[in-house]
This record gives sequence, structure tokens and C-alpha cells, in this order.
Amino acid sequence: MLETLTQQPPDALLALIKLYGADPRADKIDLGVGVYRTGQGDTPVFAAVKAAEQKLVDEQDSKAYLGPEGDMEFVHALMPYVFGKADPTMGGRIEGMQTPGGTGAVRLAAALARGAGVGTVWMGTPSWPNHAQILKDLGMTLKGFSHAAADGTADMDSLRAALKEAAPGDAILLHGCCHNPLGIDYTKAQWDELAGLLADAGVLPILDLAYQGLGHGMDEDAYGVRKVLSTVPEALVAYSCDKNFGLYRDRVGAVYAMAADPAQLDAILSNGATLARASWSMPPDHGAAAVRLILADPKLTALWLDELDTMRTRMRQVRDRLAAAGKVGSLDLTPCGTQNGLFSVLALTPEQILKLRTDHGIYMAGSGRINIAGLTTGNIEKFIADLATVTA
Ligand SMILES: Cc1ncc(COP(=O)(O)O)c(C=O)c1O
Repeated sequence: MLETLTQQPPDALLALIKLYGADPRADKIDLGVGVYRTGQGDTPVFAAVKAAEQKLVDEQDSKAYLGPEGDMEFVHALMPYVFGKADPTMGGRIEGMQTPGGTGAVRLAAALARGAGVGTVWMGTPSWPNHAQILKDLGMTLKGFSHAAADGTADMDSLRAALKEAAPGDAILLHGCCHNPLGIDYTKAQWDELAGLLADAGVLPILDLAYQGLGHGMDEDAYGVRKVLSTVPEALVAYSCDKNFGLYRDRVGAVYAMAADPAQLDAILSNGATLARASWSMPPDHGAAAVRLILADPKLTALWLDELDTMRTRMRQVRDRLAAAGKVGSLDLTPCGTQNGLFSVLALTPEQILKLRTDHGIYMAGSGRINIAGLTTGNIEKFIADLATVTA
């Protein structure tokens, strides 16, 4: 029977890593994989995480099973950061559970929506490729609308049209901040309008917050999530700590449900637990335990927020330099300055992307997506000059 399984296409970004590794040029630039890099090109473990891990080694007295909901102290410790310190449970209407990374959170959120009868999910395109893959795997119907307009801002017309067409009981998947891959986020005014449109349309929002703190700040980046949650009766939020704590491979995430009535939460979360049990049984503990220890200790919290500030400031500096370059050949880098997070997409042709790789050792996704953090003071001038050559 197994011979009936057909070859699946390789992950394009993983293939790019291999090509980059095999390139002998000393001045090659990796803008492919989506991890933060320092100005020296490293992806170090946060000092706050190291300190928390040391505490874990010293103090953790058991590795016995927790349960499908994972570390609930971790789940609760994150809530003031996500939903605001004033009322992190929205009057007792929000509860969550730990998941293996943001991917597990998106998967569980979509599966919960499907269990609740959602068949169709609306989503702006392009999006993180795994979104469509997860929805497809769950047998849900994906309906797309354009995320960005030609002028590089969010395409509100397309979103309004989608919400007009959406049926009550559909869901919509939205990036909370730092859109992957476009870096184009809704403004506060757009979130304000969007929240009302969602409520009117009766669709279930699934909000994916994978980069909180990497755009403008922890509170600023949660504006959309908080606005939507204060406007609609119910919603699901998928959260990742893998970027903002640098815990990528430790797979740290959480899914939260906001119910119309606190009395519904137990049943909703029992479905989450059942789905988790059938998928991964329980989430990995280590990274979430480290986050819990950081958030329980004011000194470690301050250290973590400081490290996050440094990351954000560095990415803003890279974006400012790109924007200052303005028009480079036929390509306008100005929009990079107002975009957010790790990614932007450059309007390059496949031939130009290939030429950058073969002639100049610059590696980026076939879509033109670049990892902003792959650029440093040491390579950004070369990058801009090489862009000018291929777009002349
Ligand atoms: C938009 C978005 N959501 C979710 C994730 C999942 O992140 P992880 O599973 O690594 O926590 C990613 C990762 O790239 C992402 O870009």
C-alpha cells in the first residue's frame, strides 16, 4: 500500500538553505530562513532564556507528564501581554492551552473551528504557506482575498468584499502583526473598521499572533487582537513564543479561545484537549517552562523585554536604511520602511531572484521574500548595490 504515496514537493526554503551552505563565496547573504539574526549574523539564545534554563536545571524536580493542556501557569502568564493587563481574561471569557509552537496553535485553532461547524476559512493572500496547508489537511475550504493593494498598503477593498460575501459561520484567519510574508499590517484605524465588519458578518476570527514585540512593541503589536476581541462575541487566538523568545526549536505556543459566555469555556477547552491528545498528546515542556520562569521573575522579564527591544530596533534600522535607498533601479525599497517584522517581499522577477543568487550570492525565497534580519551593517550596502545591478 505504501507505494501508492507519491513524491511530495520539497520545502523550497529548506532547499535554499542547502544551496546557501554549499556556496563557497565569503560575502554570500542568506535572506531565506525566517529566524532573527544579530548584526553579526547569529541567532543566539536569549540571556533571559539561558538564565531561566539554568533555574530549571537547578530547581525542576520532575519531568512527569503534565496533560494535554500543558503548562497552565505558562498559558496564564502570557495572557496580560496578549490581551492587556487591565482585563486579560475579558471578564472570564478567555482560556487557553499550551501547544507545540505557533504551528500547533494554528492547527488546534483551525481544528476547533472545524469541530464547531466551520467549513470555510477566509484568508488574505499571500500568507504563510503552512496556513493553507493546515486548512487543506483539515479538509476545510479556503477562500482567498488579496492582502495588499498595489500601493503597498493593506487591501481594505478586497477585505470588505470578502466579508460581504462571507456567510455567518465562516471563519477568517488574520495575522495579528508582522505579516508573513508581506510585512504589511493593518493600521489602527483599519483594525477599528475591520473589528466592526467581523462582528457584522458573524464570522469567527482566528488571529495568528506569531511575532508580538517584533513590529512596534508588545502592546502596539497586540492592538488588532485586543480590538477584535473587544468587538466580536467569540474568537480564537494562536500564539507563538518561538520568535519573541528565540525558542524556535523548543516549540512554544498557546491557543486561546474567547467564548461568548464564560460557561462555554470548559466544553471548548475539553475539545482542545481531545484534539491535542489525538495529535501530540501533550506539548513539549522545556521552552514553555523557561518562558513561565521569565514571566514570573521581574528581573528576567525586564531582561527579556530589553533583548526584544534590541531585536526590534535593529530590524527598524535595517528597514530605515532600505527605505532611505528609495528607488533602486526599477525597484522601490521605500515601503520596507513602514512594513513590520522579519519579512518584506521585493517585487523582483524570478530571473532577477536567480541572478542575485548565481551572480551575487544573495539567497531569498522564490517569492521575493527577504528576511530583514539577514541584513547587517556589514552586508546591506552590497545588497543594495547588487539589487541596483539586477534591476537596472
Ligand atoms: C504567520 C505565522 N504563524 C505561525 C507560525 C508558526 O511558528 P512556530 O510554529 O515556529 O511557533 C509562523 C512561523 O513562521 C508564522 O510565520
